[in-house]
Amino acid sequence: MLSNEIREKFLRFFEKRGHRVVPSASLVPTDDPSVLFTTAGMQQFKSHFIGLRNAKDDFGSLNLTSSQKCVRTSDIEEVGDKSHLTFFEMLGNFSFDGYWKKEAIEYAYDLITKEIDLKIDYVSVFGGEGNVPEDTESAEIWRSIDPEITIKKFGRSDNFWGPTGEEGPCGPTTEIYIDGIEIWNIVFNEYYQSQDKTLIPLKTKGVDTGMGLERLVKVVQKTETVFETDLFLPIVQVANSRIVADHIRTSCFMITDGITPSNTGRGYVLRRLLRRAYVKNKEINPIIDAIVNHPSYLGLYAFTPNTKEVVALELEKFQKTLDAGLKRIGKGEDPFILFTSYGLPLEIIEEVTSVDKEKFERQMAEHKEKSGVWKE
Ligand code: SER
Repeated sequence: MLSNEIREKFLRFFEKRGHRVVPSASLVPTDDPSVLFTTAGMQQFKSHFIGLRNAKDDFGSLNLTSSQKCVRTSDIEEVGDKSHLTFFEMLGNFSFDGYWKKEAIEYAYDLITKEIDLKIDYVSVFGGEGNVPEDTESAEIWRSIDPEITIKKFGRSDNFWGPTGEEGPCGPTTEIYIDGIEIWNIVFNEYYQSQDKTLIPLKTKGVDTGMGLERLVKVVQKTETVFETDLFLPIVQVANSRIVADHIRTSCFMITDGITPSNTGRGYVLRRLLRRAYVKNKEINPIIDAIVNHPSYLGLYAFTPNTKEVVALELEKFQKTLDAGLKRIGKGEDPFILFTSYGLPLEIIEEVTSVDKEKFERQMAEHKEKSGVWKE
């Protein structure tokens, strides 16, 4: 099954079960200033989960499904391994006081084991922590569906999700694991976490599930990593690098959603991604072609026609900075200044001069704290 068939299967499965298919929102969140990027499918529904808006008025249904474009930069150092990416699509189904745990778990089980024919390694449920009680209801539902299933119990760090940004809806989760990776996160939004971290019970409960399309495709296509799936192979083949493929793909989606390279916020993240990719491979245009013409995206995501121009403009400037920065290295400039002011990627700096890693990390942490960049 190809990635676009898997995406379709997911959306149609829920459509047949009374869900309205909602298009992906922009990568730039419109009503949540506390985050840089859309990091989850539920983000465009944050105000619906807390009762400020009504899903029936806005979308015609209390039950929705979507494939949401997401960017998460927190895992950037892991990109290139089996499953971490800076951009991914999140398949999700959502309910705003429409249905609850039984339906959510049964849908997930049926889709995974019957429609897609995968075998679940184990599932996890919230084991209870602090004021939040153990989720015995979900464990019972799993057992009633499959008495043989392995159920693990974890605490807040594993089986409790949210909020995105500084405050918002959140709650205990039940998660499905296949081939050693977490595939599907089913969140039972029962609380509102305020800025001081207090949990306040929500008036209306909600279901928010998220399954990374790229990971699901890896599991269905039984590939070693996400990069051999049909979603990535044509991109990696021209990029000659997993990291370059990932970073340029993320950049294309960002530019299409109106982000341009700059020194702050989202634009800085885009700049870093482009620069990091460029030092590994200077032939960016063929990679952009492979992404914007990818069969899985055709008819779904219309990339902005000036993507190549935005990238070329940025990288021509970067080449000049690179030349200037490389000259500074000879003059003993602090690696951190070369990194932040000249935009030299650490890989390049390390090649030509010695870097005190501890000092650099310390400077970087302070910088991140100050600029708010990379925070989610
Ligand atoms: N919001 C949850 C997540 O991002 C489930 O969709 O994992």
